[in-house]
Amino acid sequence: MKTIGVVTSGGDAPGMNAAIRAVVRVASGHGIRVLGFRRGWGGVVANEFMELTPRSVSGIIQLGGTILHTSRCKECETAGEQEKASENLKKNGVEGLAVIGGDGSMRGARAMSKTSGIPMVGIPASIDNDVYGTDETIGFDTAVNTSVSEIDKIRDTAVSHDRIFIVEVMGRQRGFIAAMVGLAVGAEATLVPEVKYNEEVLLNLIKVNEAKGKKSAIIVAAEGVGDTRKIAEDIEKGLGLEARLSIIGYAQRGGSPTARSRFLAAEFGNRAVELLLAGNGNRVVGIQNGRITDISLEESCNNKKPMDLSILQLARVLST
Ligand code: F6P
Repeated sequence: MKTIGVVTSGGDAPGMNAAIRAVVRVASGHGIRVLGFRRGWGGVVANEFMELTPRSVSGIIQLGGTILHTSRCKECETAGEQEKASENLKKNGVEGLAVIGGDGSMRGARAMSKTSGIPMVGIPASIDNDVYGTDETIGFDTAVNTSVSEIDKIRDTAVSHDRIFIVEVMGRQRGFIAAMVGLAVGAEATLVPEVKYNEEVLLNLIKVNEAKGKKSAIIVAAEGVGDTRKIAEDIEKGLGLEARLSIIGYAQRGGSPTARSRFLAAEFGNRAVELLLAGNGNRVVGIQNGRITDISLEESCNNKKPMDLSILQLARVLST
């Protein structure tokens, strides 16, 4: 194997750069040339790439975002665009591709590997932590910590004003961020897309807490639960309490990766190159029960990552 490619695709996540660095330095150590494709699959289709060397990835381990840039490329799902991408990879002598991204990127890798026959290895990086086959994705820990430090500040206002705060965190489809953040900030309630929102249950919980002398509350809600402004209004109208909505937003996607996100980036990048070198393509790397693992791309794409809802229950018990 002489040349491999690396691409970051989908939403950016803190630690993507650390993963690029790991891929490049491990591959270079084996005498392999690395081409970095720009702007996700869009750059593969447009044949936009740059050669990455151990020196060109200096000083990026601590940077959020991705030096390769990224995109969510809808057109890249068409057969025509995939053909173009496949031709470009072959033209440039790419014999394996490391795909750094979330669950959508893993599906992109599967489609592209079928079209091109070139082995692909997925490196899960997404703040949403929603890739099947890994307990944790690169960037998740950083996003959680960003939200936690913001919510700790919001708690000051909640307590000082005896207010209820709905704090919306990211997670359009899944509630992994909300669940972990809710536990870590001592949220009185955590709302996730996996559990249908029930206004009556929430209002009752706040009422019970009030009767116990709790005059403020932090309710962490994943964006995927629906209209969080309406939830704040429901509380004001239903209970006559002051309620506010605070949306953490895109700050969660950026910033310097935590040590944990960098650790995963280093280990995942290393395993991805090892797999490609061993001719073991079409895998997704991960961490399961503390061990670095890999499963087939097919298995990862065909399954939905389960969510342990007991963490929500624990957060509720601890906030009484
Ligand atoms: O990267 C995942 C995610 O943060 C989701 O939680 C969120 O819904 C989505 O990205 C929004 O990102 P964009 O605006 O890039 O589509």
